[in-house]
Amino acid sequence: MAALCHFPSAPSSPRLFPLSRLLSPVSRASKPQHLLLAACPIENSIPNASTAGSRLRCFSSSPNAAASPVTLPSDERESRSLGDITRPDFPILRQVVNGFNLVYLDNAATSQKPSAVLDVLNEYYETYNSNVHRGVHYLSAKATDAYEEARTKVATFVNAMDRREIVFTRNATEAINLVAYSWGLLNLRSGDEILLTVAEHHSAIVPWQIVAKKTGAILKYVGLTKEEVPDLDLLKGLLSKNTKLVVTHHVSNVLGSVLPIDDIVVWSHNVGAKVLVDACQSVPHMIVDVQKLGVDFLVASSHKMCGPTGVGFLYGKIELLSSMPPFLGGGEMISDVFQDYSTYAEPPSRFEAGTPAIGEAIGLGAAIDYLSSISMQTIHNYEVELSNYLYHSLCSVPNLHIYGPAPSETVHRAALCSFNVEKIHPTDIATFLDEQHGVAIRSGHHCAQPLHRALGVTSSARASLYFYNTKEEVDAFTQALKDTIDFFTSAL
Ligand SMILES: Cc1ncc(COP(=O)(O)O)c(C=O)c1O
Repeated sequence: MAALCHFPSAPSSPRLFPLSRLLSPVSRASKPQHLLLAACPIENSIPNASTAGSRLRCFSSSPNAAASPVTLPSDERESRSLGDITRPDFPILRQVVNGFNLVYLDNAATSQKPSAVLDVLNEYYETYNSNVHRGVHYLSAKATDAYEEARTKVATFVNAMDRREIVFTRNATEAINLVAYSWGLLNLRSGDEILLTVAEHHSAIVPWQIVAKKTGAILKYVGLTKEEVPDLDLLKGLLSKNTKLVVTHHVSNVLGSVLPIDDIVVWSHNVGAKVLVDACQSVPHMIVDVQKLGVDFLVASSHKMCGPTGVGFLYGKIELLSSMPPFLGGGEMISDVFQDYSTYAEPPSRFEAGTPAIGEAIGLGAAIDYLSSISMQTIHNYEVELSNYLYHSLCSVPNLHIYGPAPSETVHRAALCSFNVEKIHPTDIATFLDEQHGVAIRSGHHCAQPLHRALGVTSSARASLYFYNTKEEVDAFTQALKDTIDFFTSAL
C-alpha cells in the first residue's frame, strides 16, 4: 500500500451512527447546492471524442477492432472532457437527488444507459418484439437477425475468432456457473486444484466451491502482497501439474488493480491449466482482446457496460465449448428429443436453453455500438486520468485509507477507490453522502468478503467512475466526503 492515505490500522469494526437521528430536515435544507453539472448542452447524437490524454501508460495498446472514432476539433477537445461531452447522452444523470444534482459514483455496481441504448430497447419492444429462432414470420425473422447480430457485435468487441464462441447468459455470474457446472463437472476429479485469488468476486468463488464439493477438487487461494495486490509470485509458485483451472479477475472491483492476464495465461498453460477470466470490470473500460490474452474462458455483464440488465456473456474457445455438455436443458438447446434421451445443438445454442433475453441482448449490441463510437482507447485514456485524479483527491482527505496499489508510471489503477475512514462506518459515509449531498457511492463488502478479511476489515466505501463522470464530480465528492467526516467527527 502507498505511504499516502494511510491510517495505521484499518477499522475492523467501524462505529455505526444512528443516522436517522443525526440527519434532521433542517440540516438537509441548509446544505448549499454545490454542482454545476447540468451546464453542458444536451446532445442527441452519439458522441465522438478524441483522447483526453493520459499522464500514464495505458493498460493495453492494441487497437479497438470495432471503433472508428471521429476526432473533435482541438479547441473543443481542450475545453471539454469526455465526461462533459458524453453525459448529456445519459438522461438519468440530469436529475436532482435529495436536493442536489446527482453525482453517480457507483458504476462498478452498474453503469447508466445512454439514450442510444434506451431507444433501441424501446424500438425492439414497440416494433419487432418476437421470439427468436422459432418463427418464420417477419417479426421473428427480424428479432432473430438482431439477436444474432448482437452476438457478432460482442464477438468483434472482444476480438473472438469465431462468433460461436459467444454465449449469451443472464449475467457474468451465470456465465461462470455455466463453466463450473458444464466444464467443471466434466473435467475435475478428486485432488485436482482450482487456483483463485483472494480478491475474486463471490460470483467467481461460490460456483467453484459447489463444484469442488461435488468433485473432490481443491480450491487454492493466492493472497495479497504488501501493496495489496494479488501476489503473482505466489500464484506462479502454486501452479503445478495438479492445477486444472485458474480463476482470476482482470480488474479488481475493490482494489482497482489490473492483473497481467497474458502472463497468467502463459504460466497456467505451461502446467496444462485452463484460465477463466472475470472481466466484469475490464471489458466496460478498456480494450479486451481474448485472442491476444489467450484466455480459455472470459465473462462479462452487459449492465456494467452501458447495456441493459438481464444479459451477459461467456466467451469460450470453440474447441472447449464444443466438448462441453449442456448446463441447462430445454427448448433451443437441442438437436433432437426422444422420449428417453436428446441430442444437443452445437454451441452457442447448446448453452442457451429457453427463450433468451432478446431485447436485452440487442440492447447490449447497441451499448457496444455506443462505446465503440467513442472508442475503448479513448474511454480508457480518460479513465486513467480520472483514476489518478480520484486517487490523489482522496489522498487529501485526512485519516482515509485507500485499498489497493498506489498509481505510478508502471502501476495502473481502474477509476475506482475503495476506502475506509478512521472510526466512521462506511455505510454511514455512503448514507450521509446520499442524503446530504446527492452523491451515490457503495458501501459494504462489494461481494468480496474473503478479500475484505485479507485486508483486515469487514467492509469499505467505494467510489467507482465511468467515462461520463468528470473531475468536477470528483471535486464535489471529495468536498462532500470532507463535510461528512467533519459531521461525524464533531459528533464524537
Ligand atoms: C468483478 C466482478 N465479478 C463479477 C460480478 C458479478 O456480476 P453480475 O452480478 O452482473 O453477474 C461483478 C459485479 O459486481 C464484479 O464486479
